[in-house]
Amino acid sequence: MCGIFTYYGHKNTAPELVIEGLKKLEYRGYDSWGIAYKTNDEIEIRKEIGKIGDIKVKDLDLKHSNIAIGHSRWATHGGVNKKNAHPHFTEEKDIALVHNGIFENYVEIKKYLEKKGHTFKSDTDTEVIAHLIEEHAKTHEFEDAVKLATQEIEGRYAIVVLNSSNETMIAARKGSPLILGVGHTEGEYFIASDIPAFLKYTNKVIYLDDNQMTVIKDGEAKFYDMEKHEEIEKRIVEIDWDEESAEMGDFAHFMIKEITEQKETLARAINQDPKIIEKVAKAIESAKGTYFVGCGTAGKVGMVGEYLFAKIAKKHTNFAFGSEFSNYKDFLTKDTLMICISQSGETADTLEAIEVAKEKGVKIVSIVNVETSTMARMSDIVVPIKAGPEKAVASTKATTSQLAILTLLAYACDGGVKKGQQELINAAGQINDMLNPRYEEHIMKIAEKIKEVESMYIIGRGANYPMALEAAIKLQEVSYIHAEGFAGGELKHGPIALITENTPVIALVANDDSKKEIISNATEIKARGGYIIGVAPENDDIFDFWIRVPDTQAVSPIVNIIPVQILAYQLAVLRKNDPDKPRNLAKSVTVK
Ligand code: F6R
Repeated sequence: MCGIFTYYGHKNTAPELVIEGLKKLEYRGYDSWGIAYKTNDEIEIRKEIGKIGDIKVKDLDLKHSNIAIGHSRWATHGGVNKKNAHPHFTEEKDIALVHNGIFENYVEIKKYLEKKGHTFKSDTDTEVIAHLIEEHAKTHEFEDAVKLATQEIEGRYAIVVLNSSNETMIAARKGSPLILGVGHTEGEYFIASDIPAFLKYTNKVIYLDDNQMTVIKDGEAKFYDMEKHEEIEKRIVEIDWDEESAEMGDFAHFMIKEITEQKETLARAINQDPKIIEKVAKAIESAKGTYFVGCGTAGKVGMVGEYLFAKIAKKHTNFAFGSEFSNYKDFLTKDTLMICISQSGETADTLEAIEVAKEKGVKIVSIVNVETSTMARMSDIVVPIKAGPEKAVASTKATTSQLAILTLLAYACDGGVKKGQQELINAAGQINDMLNPRYEEHIMKIAEKIKEVESMYIIGRGANYPMALEAAIKLQEVSYIHAEGFAGGELKHGPIALITENTPVIALVANDDSKKEIISNATEIKARGGYIIGVAPENDDIFDFWIRVPDTQAVSPIVNIIPVQILAYQLAVLRKNDPDKPRNLAKSVTVK
């Protein structure tokens, strides 16, 4: 949530570089953007409302500078306007700051600073940090002033501060991501919320951990532990992502590129090191209580986990959304196992759930895409899903890879990791055949037909019930059509009142013991005028429109969600929405 990109080095095009970097981070927030850069004797600030992706650098008339910070915003405190856009700066305009996260005690600190004579131009918590640093800098060295300010801030944050008078850039984090890219020429550094933003320049990275700070000054970066008040050594890690995998290539949008990539990403998830899967399976076997935890789509994947374990491993597990997990804290012991599911590994609600669990000595497993994320680093065992960078806000390829890992785990707990692998390999092969232009054209027919509807519903049973909930998220977030998912059997207890003539209802059908019942639920809806779109291995008379999926039994949650991802994408395009950057949303939700 919110993208940070900064440059410090020899190139005198730092402002342009920062704008280009921010464009790659736009999926993290896109209601406004801004940059601050040092010219001869002062800091220049440029802020705009709207998406930075639409900006042409040459139209901006930027001056030369070799040190710049930038931010693309997802508003939390204060509305979307220029004054609330970052960077924020002090009266003297010698300190500018960008911030990702939420500063919870800013009201008290703002009052204290106002009494000291500070005046504020924005409604943000961020501007308060800039002034707090300025206040401390009256009596302390700049670095110490930043340290003192961060110690007074409560909440999760990543900040980068630029001081023009001594040409220093300082970055600090607690709970929100911040990564340092080490340039190929000496004394060149990038700082970003996510690696793909600077992959074009370097694949050498240093991860800042919580309560750590880097001070870049005189062409050198030094690192400090802000709690222990000491300098620390940090390791450079070489990332093997290539720039191309983080770019759109010939596709019109990242979302469709990532949907199409599922042929390969699933294969990568399945070809896991079996030792990791078996290690997690053992941990599940010996745990007294296992909780799947995640948010949004990753949460729905966790719910599928409960069903897969009940059905395949005959094992009771629990599920909780990250934001709800603390309600279960009285049941947690050192024998509990928590399995966190996350694409980014930076979702604040899930990270907080981990903190609650850790206090009780719970063992943490994380199933994550970003292997070096905060979540991964807080975990005892990390299962990387290896989906590669996911840039579209709506999760697609990460979702199916997470589902594949849970399927493997459920089979491993039943003693059959190989059987699980085989089932998944078969399914992946069939998905490969399914994902072709003809399939997309077929789905486009239904997208054209329903593109103007106000509401639609999705039903599923068993593991396809949480997938119906996930299908609704996909449709809501990119098409902006009101969509709701239900357990097939639940409609008749109330929601069926919403069905009128031609209301589209997608039935997610698996060729298992739930098939007869879900078809019967679809029949009940059809009898009330509903228009039934069947996502199923076989056609049925009850379907008004059939989208064929491979017959994959236990793997049906994976194969059934893919056509809905395609439909959601197509509806977004037909309705002239930006599928990669849906309104009000951001990738990586780093606020509570
Ligand atoms: C929806 C979507 C979100 C995320 C959720 C958790 O398409 O992507 O619902 O699933 O914000 O994010 P991660 O997986 O990064 O923890």
